[in-house]
Amino acid sequence: MSTLIDAFDLDGDVALVTGGAGLLGREICEGLADHGATVVVADPAAEEGQAVADSIGENGQFRSLDITKAEAVEETVASVIDEFGSLDVLVNTAYPRNKNYGQRYEEMTLADWRENVDLHLNSYFYSSYCASMAMKDQADGGSIINLGSVYGVQAPDFGVYDGTGMTSPVEYSAIKGGILNLVRYMASYLGEYDVRVNAVSPGGVFDGQDEQFVENYERRTPLGRMAAPEDMVGPVVFLASDAAGYVTGHNLVVDGGWTIK
Ligand SMILES: NC(=O)c1ccc[n+]([C@@H]2O[C@H](COP(=O)([O-])OP(=O)(O)OC[C@H]3O[C@@H](n4cnc5c(N)ncnc54)[C@H](O)[C@@H]3O)[C@@H](O)[C@H]2O)c1
Repeated sequence: MSTLIDAFDLDGDVALVTGGAGLLGREICEGLADHGATVVVADPAAEEGQAVADSIGENGQFRSLDITKAEAVEETVASVIDEFGSLDVLVNTAYPRNKNYGQRYEEMTLADWRENVDLHLNSYFYSSYCASMAMKDQADGGSIINLGSVYGVQAPDFGVYDGTGMTSPVEYSAIKGGILNLVRYMASYLGEYDVRVNAVSPGGVFDGQDEQFVENYERRTPLGRMAAPEDMVGPVVFLASDAAGYVTGHNLVVDGGWTIK
C-alpha cells in the first residue's frame, strides 16, 4: 500500500534547476536529489554548479546554462530529455540581472528597466514554455515551479531599509508580479495535459545583510527571523511531487508571515 510518504518520493523523476548554484538553488537541488530525483544543475557559474552536482553524487549533473539565451534553453531541455528520457520537474531559481540592478528609484533608467525585465521575466517565461511544450507530450505531464517573491504579491515596506542604504528595485516588483500571473496562465492552459505550474514566493532570505536591515526585517516578521535557504526546500519538493498532484496555479508563500501584515 502506498503511503503519503511515498507521494513525496521523486525516484525516477528528472529535474532541471536553473540557477542551481545559487543561494536557494543549491539547497533546492540537494533537496530534490535527497527525495530521489536525478537533478540537472543548470547555471552559468561552472565551478559553483559543478560543486553542487558533485555534492549530490551520481544523481547530479552540471550543465552550463544562461537562461537569457533562448537557443541554449531549447538545447538544454532537448538534451536532458535525450539523455534521461524525460523532463519531469523544472525549477526556475536563476536570478539574472544587469550591472546596475538594485539602484534607488530616482537613479534607475528606462534602459535598465527594460534589460532587467528581459533578463528575468522573459527568461522565466521562455524556459517554462520550453519545458511545458516537452512535458505536455509526456504521459505523466510534469511540474514547473517558478521562484516568485513576497514583492510579487505586495508592495515593499520601505521602512525596513531605513538607515541601511539598501532598497528594493522597482522592476523587481513588476518582474515577480508578472511571473506569478504567468504561472496562473500556464496552469490554466496546461491543466488538461497534467502539467502543473506553481510558484514559491520566499520572503527575505538571510545572506549576511546589513545588521540594521536584519533587525528591521525580523521585527516586522511574525516568525521573528529572516528565511534560511533550506526553508524553500520542503515547499519546492512538495510542489514537485505527487503529494501536490491536485495543486496547480498556486503561489506558495514562504515568508514567516511577512505578507499577512
Ligand atoms: N534571496 C532572497 O532573499 C530571495 C527572496 C525572494 C525571492 N528570491 C528569488 O529566488 C531566486 C533565487 O535567488 P537567490 O537568492 O538564490 O539568488 P542568487 O543570486 O544567490 O543565485 C542565483 C543563481 O542564478 C544564477 N544565474 C544568474 N544569471 C543566470 C542566467 N542568465 N541563467 C541561469 N542562471 C543564472 C547565478 O549564477 C546564481 O547561481 C530568484 O528568483 C530570486 O528573485 C530570493
